[in-house]
Formats: sequence, structure tokens, C-alpha cells
Amino acid sequence: MRTKLLHDTEEDIALAAALLQKGEIVAFPTETVYGLGADARQEDAVHAIFAAKGRPADNPLIVHIASADMLPEIAADVPEIAWKLAQVFFPGPLTMVLPKRPDIPYVTSGGLDTVGIRMPSHPTANALLKAAGCPVAAPSANRSGRPSPTTAAHVMADMDGRIAAVLDGGACEGGVESTVICFDDPETIHILRPGLVSAEMLAPYAGKVYVDRAVYSQLSPEAKVASPGMKYRHYAPHAKILPVDAPDFASFSAWVTTHAQTGDYVLLFDSDPVIENIPTMRYGDDGRTQAHLLFRRFRELDEAGAHTVYVRMPEQTGTSLSVYNRLMRAAGFEVITL
Ligand code: TXA
Ligand code: MG
Repeated sequence: MRTKLLHDTEEDIALAAALLQKGEIVAFPTETVYGLGADARQEDAVHAIFAAKGRPADNPLIVHIASADMLPEIAADVPEIAWKLAQVFFPGPLTMVLPKRPDIPYVTSGGLDTVGIRMPSHPTANALLKAAGCPVAAPSANRSGRPSPTTAAHVMADMDGRIAAVLDGGACEGGVESTVICFDDPETIHILRPGLVSAEMLAPYAGKVYVDRAVYSQLSPEAKVASPGMKYRHYAPHAKILPVDAPDFASFSAWVTTHAQTGDYVLLFDSDPVIENIPTMRYGDDGRTQAHLLFRRFRELDEAGAHTVYVRMPEQTGTSLSVYNRLMRAAGFEVITL
């Protein structure tokens, strides 16, 4: 199959929409990362997503919608709190897990009776969803286990020849995938995957907000997980990622200077001073910039042929928690603590 590279024009968006209607797979930009889209109700098309990604069949997909009004077409029940959150955070990087309607096939929901739903804010994604006129199931557009793609070139690197088309909408602003939540009861928000909609931002709309423990630590293989995606090692470049939890820059610098070998890199904050003789990349100082750059840097480190990458630790609060979580998962939760 030749993968068509489409552009952000009315004509190409119409072409991409027609491909989706025909049951083909089209990668498209969102405000978080690129998605690998197919009509969520066409079982064969959704099967083809799993094949193109090499994704385990029990890892459910997120269904993308063009407006909040479509929630009852996907979810069997939309509680009051979900409507309230949709009003505030749609369109945007928030996915809500709700009971699924019977006409959403189990292949889409990874065999679960629930389904993740979100309305993306990227104008190209929104135009595509409107033109296609169907709910679009889309995981991140990387091969399973690779960092999520934040440019059309990243998608091409992973998917060329495996899907019908890539719609190029430029680099994604967000850089990490959406916040995934479910509701334990009508007042409780359970964060399954942190993203740019933080616990702090959700707190005013719920009695209680809490973060799943799988966000902070590796679960044992037998552990029951609330979100199947959390049990898979993810987001990893070929290089070995090793976060170093140091009380300050001086101790980080001293430690890596004595431990780094030829071929190793450091991934520093922008405001960190230079470390002599160790190849360096940087990924910003605040959570939003770090989220925007993390996966891009992972791919650049691979292109540079980095062996081990010693990484400065992000914060664990606000939007930074999403960066911390992706970094820890890339590292298999192994950390050097000084
Ligand atoms: O920002 C995003 O969410 C991107 C863009 C393309 O929209 N999509 C994305 O999809 O990251 P994916 O498939 O890479 O990640 C979906 C995550 C997985 O961790 C999955 O386990 C979880 O959402 N998820 C989806 N449906 C679920 C459900 N019914 N119950 C629990 N977790 C669910
Ligand atoms: Mg993914």
C-alpha cells in the first residue's frame, strides 16, 4: 500500500473523510499527538488499526467526536458530571470513559463494556470529524511501544506503507496524549492517565479527584488494571532512558560526569548550565514545554544513536505529572535517586 501524504486543505480533508467512510485508516493531527483513525463502528477498519500498530487486542481505543452532542450516540449513559466536564473541557485533551452503547463494537473498546470518548480541539481534526460524519476510533499513530508521534514525519517513519493516508497538520502543540478519566461514583474522578488537563484543573468540578497508582509505579503483571494501556511498556525510544532524581543540578552534574560513557547523553532543562564533554539535549523548564518536547526529543535521541540518556526529573504536580509519567514509563520505572 502506498501511504498518501495529504495537506491541511479543504480538498484533502474531504479526501481523508471519504477514505474513513470507505473503511480505510487515516492518520490525523490532534492538539495532543497524531491519531490513527478509522470509523469506530466499522469492525474491519478498527481491526486494521490494531494490525497497523501491532497493538494488543485488549488495549481499547479512544472514540473521537465532533461535538459534545454526540456523547449519547457513543455512551449508554452520560452522568451529570460528564456533561459538566464536557462543557468546560471540550474540545480539548480530556478523554472520559463511560459505559458503551451496544452498537460500538467490542473490537473498538478492547472487549470492555466501557468506551473512552473525547472531542479534539485541533481545527484539522475537528474539520475531518465533521466531514466524515462518523465517530472516529484513534489510538496514537505510533507503532506499538514507540513514542507517540507529534509530527506527520514521525507518523510516516512508523506507518509508511501500512495505512491509506497521513493528513499533515503541522507539529502538535500539546505533545503528550490526553488525560484519561473514569468516574468511580457520580462525584469521584479517577485519573487513569495524566495529561494536560491536570487533577488541579478538574478538582473544582468533582467531590474528589485522585490519580491511579499505575501512574507512579510499575504494576506487577498479575495486577488488575483500571486502564489496559497502563500495563504495557510504552513511549520508549531505542535508547535507554534513565531519570536521575537529584536534589539539585550540581549533584546531577557531578553524578553523570563520573558515570556517563561514550555514546551517552543528558537531557537537561533549558535553564541548566552546560555539562562539559557530555552530548546534551534540552526539553524546557515548565510542564507545558516539556510535554510539547519530550516525545520529539526521544526520537531525536534515537536518530543521534544515543545509548543511555540521563534525564533531569520533571515535577510531579499539575501538567508536569503527565511528563513525569511518560518519562517513568519509558524508563520502565527505573530511577537513579541521589
Ligand atoms: O490524546 C490522545 O488521547 C491520543 C489522540 C490521538 O487522541 N490518543 C491516544 O490513544 O493516546 P491511545 O490508544 O494511544 O491511548 C488510549 C488510552 C490507553 O491507555 C487505553 O488503555 C485507555 O486510553 N482507554 C481507552 N479506552 C478505555 C476504557 N474503556 N477503559 C479504560 N481505559 C481506556
Ligand atoms: Mg498510545
